Amino acid sequence: MKTTARNSLVAMAMIAAAPAAFSDSDHRAKALVMMKQDFVTKGQATADRIFEDGLQAICNRTGNQPPADITKRLEADQMAGVKYPADGKLMGDWKEGEKIAQSGRGFTWTDEPGLPVGGNCYNCHQIAPKETSFGTVGPSLFHFGKLRGNTADMQKYVYSKIYNAKSYNVCSEMPRFGHVGALRPEQIRHLVALLLDPESPVNK
Ligand code: HEC
Repeated sequence: MKTTARNSLVAMAMIAAAPAAFSDSDHRAKALVMMKQDFVTKGQATADRIFEDGLQAICNRTGNQPPADITKRLEADQMAGVKYPADGKLMGDWKEGEKIAQSGRGFTWTDEPGLPVGGNCYNCHQIAPKETSFGTVGPSLFHFGKLRGNTADMQKYVYSKIYNAKSYNVCSEMPRFGHVGALRPEQIRHLVALLLDPESPVNK
């Protein structure tokens, strides 16, 4: 028997001996069918929201760990889409920021389309100490400015993180508020103030 033929027989034997491969695509297809049954378009809450974009597709298929070189390129692409307020001011009014962080309204089928959308930040973060009901999916942001400062670079970081969290962490679980058109630049800068202004209760 020629070496190549023997090698391919060995390879075939190895494949046959391997445990049945986990079929990712089967599970994905089943999950999609189930989701499509439950998510139906109602007003502005359209069912296409359950579909992943290309970036989410690669996170979903790599256990949130795309190859490092691709991660860098994807993050740079996300960052390139961040839009800043026309006047360049990244710090707004922390009191307005607190209202936006508290609000979970907007974008649902019971909300009037076109109205400003809330950030729902407390759903995932501790922020100002007065609010004791908060989620812990994200890190605590209490004392954020006190700990990290409020330099121009820090303002830019917080602004662009809120605008598009995936520009720093490609498979981040934090929603891309500016990227998806939920929060407007002037709302995002109020949130920057909530986190960074020394007068904000976050930093007292
Ligand atoms: C669905 C959960 C979720 C929501 C809602 C959410 N975040 Fe996050 N956020 C996270 C997670 C998880 C991280 C940590 C991972 C990362 O950095 O991407 C994070 C990280 C951050 C960071 C970076 C923290 C650091 O140490 O550098 C900031 C700032 C932030 N979030 C602000 C906000 C603001 C403001 C809002 C509301 C507009 C918000 N987040 C809403 C989940 C969320």
